[in-house]
Amino acid sequence: MEKIFINGGRALRGGVHIGGAKNAVLALLAGTILAKDACRIDNIPEISDVGAILHILHQLGAEVRRVGKYTYDINTRYFDSGEVPYELTKHCRASYYLLGALFGRFGHARVALPGGCDIGVRPIDLHIRGFEQLGALYKFEENAIISLQAEQPSGSVVNMKSSVGATVNIMLAAVRARGVTVIETPAKEPHVVDLANFLNACGADVRGAGTDVIKIHGVKELHGCEYAAIPDQIEAGTYMAAAAATHGRVLVQGVIPKHMECITSPLIECGAHIEEYDDAILVEAPERLQRCKIKTMPYPGFPTDMQPQFGALLCTAEGASILNESIHDNRFRYMEQLTRMGAQLKVDGKVAVIEGVEQLRGAPVKAYDLRAGAAMVIAGLCAQGITEIENIEFIDRGFENLVGKLKGLGADIKRKEVREYGAELMAG
Ligand code: EPZ
Repeated sequence: MEKIFINGGRALRGGVHIGGAKNAVLALLAGTILAKDACRIDNIPEISDVGAILHILHQLGAEVRRVGKYTYDINTRYFDSGEVPYELTKHCRASYYLLGALFGRFGHARVALPGGCDIGVRPIDLHIRGFEQLGALYKFEENAIISLQAEQPSGSVVNMKSSVGATVNIMLAAVRARGVTVIETPAKEPHVVDLANFLNACGADVRGAGTDVIKIHGVKELHGCEYAAIPDQIEAGTYMAAAAATHGRVLVQGVIPKHMECITSPLIECGAHIEEYDDAILVEAPERLQRCKIKTMPYPGFPTDMQPQFGALLCTAEGASILNESIHDNRFRYMEQLTRMGAQLKVDGKVAVIEGVEQLRGAPVKAYDLRAGAAMVIAGLCAQGITEIENIEFIDRGFENLVGKLKGLGADIKRKEVREYGAELMAG
């Protein structure tokens, strides 16, 4: 078992480069299923969620070639089946995008319900309702398999209530459907817009992504294209939060500042100094941050995927901060780990009140999910003493080389293989 060890209390300083957006890339990779020839996608981060989707595509018959550190050629021409078993989907929640993509390509799909981070119930009723509107008959089969079947998917009006996954799935299903699909109240997240741009580069006709209505005119076929994914808003935000929490000075490079406004604005409220450049943001923080009040909301609101990182940051901000989680129903589990480090906080349903303390203390803690793992790292970076984080495979799902990048910013951090308790006895 590997763990992360942090000797905290050092201010982060220097520059860090941000990779491609996990949640955009996962949607783009599913989108390659709709193209009749190869797509070259650049800015694909080296994270395990991406590995999981590439593996699924390969198992289903795609040619997957890595042609550069972050560039892959993917050709799904020889796919002949719309079936994906649980052994393949269990490692990554975004594998449910295969449902929309396979349905969009073949008019039928049988995909096992995916795994993913345990941050709440995460129903898929909106996806199913959307597929039904496009003409699908659906059924839930044994082994948590959903099957969709339609003679030919046809355009319709669907309401996605700002769900990211449902908006992505319906876009994938609709680009090759007959007629026009209107998505009302779509998610407006940057990765949804990125998927629309990718599909359009493949010859689709998707208009309005990023606004209140998306209109998709179905086309007969999509071709391959060359496309570079957007930078990761959440990876960038995580380094910005780490810089502020450690009272450091960090230039976060290779970002789209517009995507970062929902994160820079609460940082400014906490007293951090922010400077924006064309594709970089400088964060500089004073010795003590101030409390703030944050509510997670769909884009352009404050992202739920940054809530745990801010939870960690606010532990040492002066005064009582309030975090309100309005998207997922179980995203405060990491808070009990923060209390092991000396944080003073109280969680009541979807609201957490954090009374800032002067200093956190290092402690052994667990990463409960991907972003909660990032929160533990931030807490460890500002705590006095050693923090030891286990379950770090969650962090590897979405952060490329987190330890190396933080070392580059001056953190005293390492990954180390640790023998599990009793392993030597069991080895005989
Ligand atoms: C996406 O998940 C992201 N995952 C999540 O990122 C992110 O937290 C979330 O959007 C919100 O921004 C990917 O992009 C792969 P939703 P998704 O559908 O699509 C409810 C991370 O850490 N809902 O927008 O699953 C749902 O229960 C991850 O990178 C329904 O009720 O999120 C939730 O409360 C974790 N019925 C809310 O909507 C549905 O059919 C938002 O979910 C669908 C969703």
